[in-house]
Amino acid sequence: MCGIVGYIGNRQAYPILMKGLHRLEYRGYDSAGIALIDNKHLKVYKTKGKVDELEQFAQQKDTIGTIGIAHTRWATHGEPTQNNAHPHYSQSEEIAIIHNGIIENYAVLKEGLMKEGYIFQSETDTEVLVQLIEYMKKTNDTDLPTAVQLALGQVVGAYAIAVLDKHNPDLIVAARKGSPLVVGIGEEEYFIGSDATPIIEYTNRVTYIGEEEIVTIKRNEPLKIKTIGNIDKTPQIQQLELTLSQLEKGGYPHFMLKEIFEQPHSLGDCMRGRVNVDKDNITLAGFIDNKDKFLNAKRIIITACGTSWHAAQIGMYAIEEYARIPVEVEYSSEFRYRKPVIHQDDIVIAISQSGETADTLAAVELAKQHGAFIFGICNVVGSSIPRNTHSGCYTHVGPEIGVASTKAFTAQVTVLTMLAVLIGKENGTLSHDEYLKLIRELSLIPDKVGDVLKKNDQIAELAKTFTYASNCIYLGRGYNFPVALEGALKLKEISYIHAEGYPAAEMKHGPIALISHEMPVIAIATQSETYEKVLSNIQEIKARKGRIISIVTEGDVVIKNLSSHTIEVPGTMPCLAPLLSVIPLQLLAYHIAVVKGCDVDQPRNLAKSVTVE
Ligand code: G6P
Repeated sequence: MCGIVGYIGNRQAYPILMKGLHRLEYRGYDSAGIALIDNKHLKVYKTKGKVDELEQFAQQKDTIGTIGIAHTRWATHGEPTQNNAHPHYSQSEEIAIIHNGIIENYAVLKEGLMKEGYIFQSETDTEVLVQLIEYMKKTNDTDLPTAVQLALGQVVGAYAIAVLDKHNPDLIVAARKGSPLVVGIGEEEYFIGSDATPIIEYTNRVTYIGEEEIVTIKRNEPLKIKTIGNIDKTPQIQQLELTLSQLEKGGYPHFMLKEIFEQPHSLGDCMRGRVNVDKDNITLAGFIDNKDKFLNAKRIIITACGTSWHAAQIGMYAIEEYARIPVEVEYSSEFRYRKPVIHQDDIVIAISQSGETADTLAAVELAKQHGAFIFGICNVVGSSIPRNTHSGCYTHVGPEIGVASTKAFTAQVTVLTMLAVLIGKENGTLSHDEYLKLIRELSLIPDKVGDVLKKNDQIAELAKTFTYASNCIYLGRGYNFPVALEGALKLKEISYIHAEGYPAAEMKHGPIALISHEMPVIAIATQSETYEKVLSNIQEIKARKGRIISIVTEGDVVIKNLSSHTIEVPGTMPCLAPLLSVIPLQLLAYHIAVVKGCDVDQPRNLAKSVTVE
């Protein structure tokens, strides 16, 4: 979603901010803008569309200045137009703001300001905030940091903001609540980012701004942080682990393809030091530290959104199979509002690649209030969800830039499987032999994923035959049912082809009516105890002239003979099958999107991290 970048120092700000905006493109956006101060002149340039369009627009303009802020906007209040793009000026054009999040009480605030004679140029909630800051500055005859503090005291909602004042060319004021914000500390220069991606190129020393904190960033002065409630805070400086090469495409045409191909490696990273074949054990620090909580849990609730929710479904199958603890999987957005029953002996697992998804963060807060133990499974180190949980486990797959999640999904499934196996081992519901078998099989997964990736050319060829399709059905059972959901989601997200994932047997209760020779049906039918049942479902489709594309275990000729196309994956235990069967579905969605000429890494309307509800 929206992205923030800012700079103050001795260099020209414009090239740094533009590069930063490009680095933030992965988050998803529909307009962009920049504000710079030079010689007490505050300049704002903004355009609808991509950062390239902003660059073109700014080409003939004055872009001089060693202080500036820039923004990519994902529309919430008001369409993606030039007017609604950030930065927004205050009425006098002396102050400019960029903002991520939503000001929920903007209508009331706006009405009050209009009565004071303020006129609005945009439909955004953000413009209300900058006008309020100016109003506070003028009526209280105060400086910018205090005006921001006073204004934020009246705001209900979520925000990460950065503010410039033309009378203070050596100052950026930034603040956050609910939306992340990080300040990079260089040599006589500071950087701001909604995440570390626009900063990493210049410094790896950062400080994450805490909830309801305001940071005053002054040229050649130490950072000053205080809360909205006026309590001084000492900045905590951390080292970033992120590297620049992780943010580059590394020779691949798209980040998504790079990330799909990274999976043998990323799964190795995710299991490193955790799955130990030599020692015949699995260790997860987050589990060991809280073993009693897991062993005494009456129930586990997993809350997540999007792809992470699909991983949660697989986790539910694994935890119930191996640890015999009842599991419920919840959409965070439903869970947080439906007054759920949460007990103190429940464990709530929050899964999130970004660690910033607003609904999942709110679900975590809710569960905490009810006294549950909260365990996070996240990828982005230091993000909001891991900082708000009692314990957890990082997936450690490095930055995921493509909007459609791939390597984060397989790592989430891997962590959940390790957790299920560990709980089962410790509470005695899993036999030692089965435990050893699972360890061995898990350790073989990265290489087997590598084998599936060798089918890339075959899948790219198959994708060419999909250009005609406007609908697809994905079918699976057991562990492969959530894989069907995930395969369908991948296709929808990046190729804009409508797709449905269904439990194979449920097809008879509706979707079978859609089957004709024009309907591709992707059947995920690897070896499992329901294999024969899935085979029957495939025969039912065949009898109605459906076009079957099957994902099967190597050597399966029965389903192959019923299918117009088959992709074989190596054999493994059913609980690990998703880690292999999802790979061809990721590749299929990718290649179909490429053939259709879609913007694979930044699909229309989608955001990588959904920081508003
Ligand atoms: C967005 C992304 C999805 C992601 C979902 C949940 O919709 O486009 O790829 O699965 O958010 O994100 P999270 O970061 O919480 O896993």
